[in-house]
Amino acid sequence: MLITPRVFSGMQPTGTLHLGNYLGAMVNWIELQKTHECIYCVVDLHAITVWQEPAELRHAIRQVTAAYIAAGLDPKRSVLFNQSQVSAHAELGWIFNCVARLGWLNRMTQFKEKAGKDREQASVGLYAYPNLMAADILAYRATHVPVGEDQKQHLELARDIAQKFNNDFRASIVAQGFADGVFFPQPDPVITGPATRVMSLRDGTKKMSKSDPSDLSRINLTDDADTIAKKVQKAKTDPEPLPSDVEGLAARPEADNLVGIHAALAGVGKDAVLRDFGGQQFSSFKKALAEVAVARLAPITGETQRLMSDPGSIDRVLADGAERARAIAAPVMDKVKDIVGLIRA
Ligand code: AMP
Ligand code: TRP
Repeated sequence: MLITPRVFSGMQPTGTLHLGNYLGAMVNWIELQKTHECIYCVVDLHAITVWQEPAELRHAIRQVTAAYIAAGLDPKRSVLFNQSQVSAHAELGWIFNCVARLGWLNRMTQFKEKAGKDREQASVGLYAYPNLMAADILAYRATHVPVGEDQKQHLELARDIAQKFNNDFRASIVAQGFADGVFFPQPDPVITGPATRVMSLRDGTKKMSKSDPSDLSRINLTDDADTIAKKVQKAKTDPEPLPSDVEGLAARPEADNLVGIHAALAGVGKDAVLRDFGGQQFSSFKKALAEVAVARLAPITGETQRLMSDPGSIDRVLADGAERARAIAAPVMDKVKDIVGLIRA
């Protein structure tokens, strides 16, 4: 089993997708389809690490799938499926629970943020979340993982797990025919584009997030044109006109964020946006920003709605993707079991 370049990424089906998800992750996922074998997963097992209302979860799994297809993910070319349909994720997740160390997980900032003050009441799943994420990636021996900036620490943990597995089982890996003693690759994060960290429209120092109580803080992929225009209009800014170069954005988080969003939506760099708008007031810039946002997002919103009117066809896409995912993960899992010393049929 040679290690070939392969892309894997996942998205939680919780709440509605927003501009941060779109620019930080989806755009890169879609672009990578052109050059790589890609596997994209709706990580429903990760979603249930915090409480999900069953009917809403079912809806969200389909909605995220539909949004991805609407945004340009081609389920024929790439593998698109939901995690719980492929048992390799949970199986390898357990094995990694036995490889990763408590000390490693104790350093995870996302757990600290999500668990909050009442850590005793957090689910064990929330704590072990990064181990399952490593399993998602490594069950396919994926080499490239496109994510937003906030997932960097989890990716480092996945690399540590791959390395510890390779070290702990080196002799067995060699005995199984891998002469160089390397079974799992070290997956590389792919964090690129002008918007790897899209910030809240209400506070340029906070990440745009689906859990922010203010809906004005984010642009949802379900917002209509008027709502998008209103949110851009109300976005927090400072009183200065826009600077004429990128250096002028330093220490101006709101301006930096809006210019970055405009650049990413228009498919250009921040410098190009500032060549057009440098020296101008935010009012005219915001009009243009609302226009590109609507032009880019409205077709996705419309197509998502159309796809959601036929849930059966979305379920068929997921079932087909799951079958193809299983076919890739099954031989990897067989080898993992052989390496660890488990007996299989
Ligand atoms: P989540 O919604 O937490 O499952 O995130 C799905 C993907 O979107 C991950 O790759 C995140 O890194 C990315 N993402 C989430 N929020 C943002 C944001 N504000 N800016 C950029 N990327 C983001
Ligand atoms: N933890 C990721 C997030 O919240 C989602 C995720 C789960 C993921 N498994 C993954 C991302 C594997 C990349 C690869 O965004």
